[in-house]
Amino acid sequence: MAKVLIVDDEPGMRRILDVNLRRDSHVVVEAGGAAEAADLIKREDFDVVLTDQKMPDGSGLDVLRAVQEDDPTTSVIFLTAVGTLELAVESMKLGAFDFLTKPFAPDVVRAAIRRASERTALLRENAALKTAVQKLEGADEILGESNVMRRVREFIGRVAGTNTTVLITGETGTGKELVARAIHRNSLRAKKPFIAINCAAVTETLLESELFGHERGAYTGADRARSGLVEAAHEGTLFLDEVAEMSPAAQAKLLRVLADGEIQRVGSTVTRRVDVRVLAATHRNLAERVHDGLFREDLYYRLAVVPVHLPPLRERSEDIGVLCRALCLQIAEEMKVPAKPISGAAVAKLTNYSFPGNIRELKNLLERALILGQDAELQPEDFFLQPPASIASAPGMEITVESLAAHLPKRLDLRKTMAQLERALIVRSLDFAKGTQAEAARYLGLSRSDLGYKIGKYGLAPVHEERAVSNFG
Ligand SMILES: Nc1ncnc2c1ncn2[C@@H]1O[C@H](COP(=O)(O)OP(=O)(O)OP(=O)(O)O)[C@@H](O)[C@H]1O
Ligand SMILES: [Mg+2]
Repeated sequence: MAKVLIVDDEPGMRRILDVNLRRDSHVVVEAGGAAEAADLIKREDFDVVLTDQKMPDGSGLDVLRAVQEDDPTTSVIFLTAVGTLELAVESMKLGAFDFLTKPFAPDVVRAAIRRASERTALLRENAALKTAVQKLEGADEILGESNVMRRVREFIGRVAGTNTTVLITGETGTGKELVARAIHRNSLRAKKPFIAINCAAVTETLLESELFGHERGAYTGADRARSGLVEAAHEGTLFLDEVAEMSPAAQAKLLRVLADGEIQRVGSTVTRRVDVRVLAATHRNLAERVHDGLFREDLYYRLAVVPVHLPPLRERSEDIGVLCRALCLQIAEEMKVPAKPISGAAVAKLTNYSFPGNIRELKNLLERALILGQDAELQPEDFFLQPPASIASAPGMEITVESLAAHLPKRLDLRKTMAQLERALIVRSLDFAKGTQAEAARYLGLSRSDLGYKIGKYGLAPVHEERAVSNFG
């Protein structure tokens, strides 16, 4: 349903159009000439303007101009008896959405209005989103120009104002808490408390009483009644960090908060109403935990209403340059040391690193480099990257089909992905072998010539054979 302005000097024509458009439940307003139309356009908001070309007091182009001055997202359709090609081309060039000739088939006009109102809706949605993203409080702290980080900021803009539960996943240091705080800051609850609790850091019994509070004598040592964090977060946001680590009992109680907005303190039968928005984060694959019977399925679905995944830094290495520059300034200010530019070679070195600790690790590396670096610019040797002693024994480096398939993207090009994986593993192995091809080949279970061939195929940098020391045991 759209709000349509019909502009035509012939009352009969306006009536036919009016009747046809109302069949699609559009709201229709009529203007008998260009001047009246211009006036209405200023005063009311239309989705679509359908205008005659030649009228006694002006032309369709005048109407188009009035629309563009007022709100260019409104779509304009010309309907004209003098359908010359020149005029059609001219009006489209000036920004008209469509050009129809009289006499017209009602279906053609109705379809054109439908398409025009869809275009208007799309343009307006985009514009709204853009301002929402620009207005995001503190979202500029969430750095990164990769598509996925842009989408994360856009996502925050979309969900912040709603009360929906968001499940934030990602490896350690990818910014899960940062995202949770940004959602809170941009929500209607921004002035109310943001209460974060790390579910992994407290014991099972304590977690329950931390979250829900307890009555006096609920357990040994509970000499006073106490309210819990859920109550403290009333009207605000409750951030459940490491949510996968919750005990079954706490999970059951949390489910009740989400489903009914009700809590019971430990040792109490009194039900209290709370209004909290829950945000949760985990570095684990929660769906897998459900499958393994470690996490309640019903709770999982309540938490994962809107999931968002923050990819590891090594998968968005195009962000590293931007991050380095911005974080350097941030750190320099915090640490009261002068900021320094970072050399291209240093960025290149970091780009090839796997960052198991993600952005937190990058921040630590930059901090050390800023404090200890001797040069006016940050150089590769200022960054001490600590590869694990050996790939094979490094925790978390074990590659299983399950771990690779845990986060399936929307679309997958298997051939390309396999090639990327092969390339990445070769780069890592060469890195470990400090460029010694023979070592890397042995590690990968390839012959030297096979590895040499693949190095050529992927255009990898020539390696230094003379380097004797490697990381392989
Ligand atoms: N996109 C980003 N832009 C700028 N800083 C970031 C970004 N992502 C993370 N950081 C910074 O990196 C550090 C780690 O982020 P955060 O604590 O949110 O990670 P996390 O995912 O919660 O990690 P963990 O699972 O270990 O708790 C913080 O100092 C945060 O400010
Ligand atoms: Mg965290």
